[in-house]
Amino acid sequence: MFRVTLALCLLGIVGAQVPGIGSCPNVETISTFDVEKYAGKWYEQNRYFTIFELGGKCVTANYTLNDDGTVKVVNAQVNSFTENPSEIEGLARVVDAKDPGKLAVRFSSSPVDGSYWILDTDYESYSAVWSCQSLLFANTQFAWILTREQNPSETVVEKAKDAFRKYGIIVNLFEKTDQVNC
Ligand SMILES: *[C@@H]1O[C@H](CO)[C@@H](O)[C@H](O)[C@H]1NC(C)=O
Repeated sequence: MFRVTLALCLLGIVGAQVPGIGSCPNVETISTFDVEKYAGKWYEQNRYFTIFELGGKCVTANYTLNDDGTVKVVNAQVNSFTENPSEIEGLARVVDAKDPGKLAVRFSSSPVDGSYWILDTDYESYSAVWSCQSLLFANTQFAWILTREQNPSETVVEKAKDAFRKYGIIVNLFEKTDQVNC
């Protein structure tokens, strides 16, 4: 109980995501984006701590191209404490065709769009996804490493990490997602 309370207090102080000072760092996203190649199932290997996924393991994302060019998103996970599976559905779209690596995603449970920026992907093994929101004097960042294989080689994960390192995004803050006890 004390640990839970402590964790909640810490959350209250640092916020749910990884905070930074100043505005969002400048990053470049992929210059071309092939939604069809990106579609299908991905396994989350690493993430910045987010409250939305607190205690989540076996996290997957399934992207399906809709006829109108938007992308149906189904994120699934298993609660590490209760073993209960859950799913959340959303819709993603490229906001500006000139910047095809920058998507906005809206989940049914949320009234606002989140950003989903693809820093790098080879479509076949990894994707490096990042999101940042500037606040007044600070920013809050999300980051995810997705892979096609549930338990990929370290080489694949390192390739994705390189995409973050390139922009000075701190990969030491990544948590490993449990994809073993699924
Ligand atoms: C992904 O979602 C689509 C559409 O909802 C579904 O047809 C497909 O079976 C799903 N794929 C996986 C691997 O779950």
